[in-house]
Amino acid sequence: MNNITIIGVGHVGLVTGVCLSDIGHQVICYDLDKEKMDQLNTGLSPFYEPGLDELLKKNVNNRRLFFTDSPEEALSDADIIYIAVGTPKQLNDDIDLTYINNAAAMIGEYTTKNNVIVVTKSTVPVGTNTNIKQAIQRNAQKTRNITMVSNPEFLREGSAIRDVFCADRIILGSDCSEAAAIIEEINKPFNVPIFKTDLHSAEMIKYSSNAFLAMKISFINELANLCEKVGADIEEVAVGMGLDSRIGSEFLKAGIGYGGSCFPKDTHAMLKMSEEAGEKPDILKAVMKVNSRQHYVLVEKAKNYFGSLKGKRASVLGLAFKPHTDDIRESPSIMIINELIANGVSVVAYDPKAMENTKKMIGEKIQYASSIEETLTDTDMVFINTDWDEIKTFSLDQYEKLMNRPVIFDGRNCYSLDKISEYKIDYFSIGRQPYW
Ligand code: UGA
Repeated sequence: MNNITIIGVGHVGLVTGVCLSDIGHQVICYDLDKEKMDQLNTGLSPFYEPGLDELLKKNVNNRRLFFTDSPEEALSDADIIYIAVGTPKQLNDDIDLTYINNAAAMIGEYTTKNNVIVVTKSTVPVGTNTNIKQAIQRNAQKTRNITMVSNPEFLREGSAIRDVFCADRIILGSDCSEAAAIIEEINKPFNVPIFKTDLHSAEMIKYSSNAFLAMKISFINELANLCEKVGADIEEVAVGMGLDSRIGSEFLKAGIGYGGSCFPKDTHAMLKMSEEAGEKPDILKAVMKVNSRQHYVLVEKAKNYFGSLKGKRASVLGLAFKPHTDDIRESPSIMIINELIANGVSVVAYDPKAMENTKKMIGEKIQYASSIEETLTDTDMVFINTDWDEIKTFSLDQYEKLMNRPVIFDGRNCYSLDKISEYKIDYFSIGRQPYW
């Protein structure tokens, strides 16, 4: 049996550790945050992810999964080390590889086994795995043979566990076929197709996949804006397009633009990588430009409707960048809130999971409500920014009852136009005709 260590217990690291232990492996997870490690050893996750708590508890209790803040404890017996640390974007759009470099230094210092396989889960610019290997070799005290496997992650926040167990593919890029075969064996119980390739191509597959999905979203959003002008309905158009298996129906949901910690960061990184390589990434630039614009289409609609927004009161439903997560990084909802405030609007907001994170990020600039009903009460307009089930299924007669005069700006097309027509509500959505 191989001893597996995971360095970095963020979203990707924790989900990877939990899932690998769940298919029978012995896993130690390392992070320097002691408090977080102590909490995880009691079976409690530091963030919200559906299904994670149950699997975490189960595998901590059956002693297949253990958390430590001691690099020595984590690494001295490790044969296989997953790097799952963050690779955030710096202000100049460069990817910050500090945590990657720290992980490499630590692996060199603390591993004792002769042969060690290092598996990179973190999203890293092409060529980074080769640099990681060299950095480990420079620091290596006892380990002689280090082989690298790039195993990029494709899980989504909010459906991460399902994405691991029902993935479309596992990508393993390596400079050593024996190492790739060992990691393939480790992943076999997931029963997911495995594609083996070289290191650089694996690194590129990750960026290319995220950039392609971002492109689909910007494309459908551009079409949505056109649909409004020419009298078509983007929901119908997306279904009709998606029936073509060459196009596929996923990631054709028009809205207020993509957010989160991945698409914005990875498209920027890919742009930079392209430009540095002397290429002209025109499509990527357009994807990002369309996305930035799309964050503000709802506020533009509100301005056109009211004339001036100054002095109005708006309710915001949904703060997370998408449902089933408490993550508000690069969330379109936060951008909309800031734009409303800049236009003199006072805002009251509600989200089933992301209120605490929002308070930490924007503090008392807005008011916080504890229910949808409380959010709507006595407001002039509502912005639906995240399509949580609770929000999507909220009864329309409540809007009529609670708001001064119900005006909905729906960034997620939660309601059908037929349903809306049964109420006295002015309704503006994305890529469909306004109802008023
Ligand atoms: C994304 C990728 O989908 C994962 O495959 C990848 O592993 C992950 O990034 C990563 O690189 O770590 P994630 O950012 O968690 O996952 O969330 P998505 O479900 O992809 O949504 C991203 C954004 O696009 C959200 O703001 C969502 O609302 C928006 N979106 C998504 C749309 O506006 N329309 C769609 O049709 C789909």
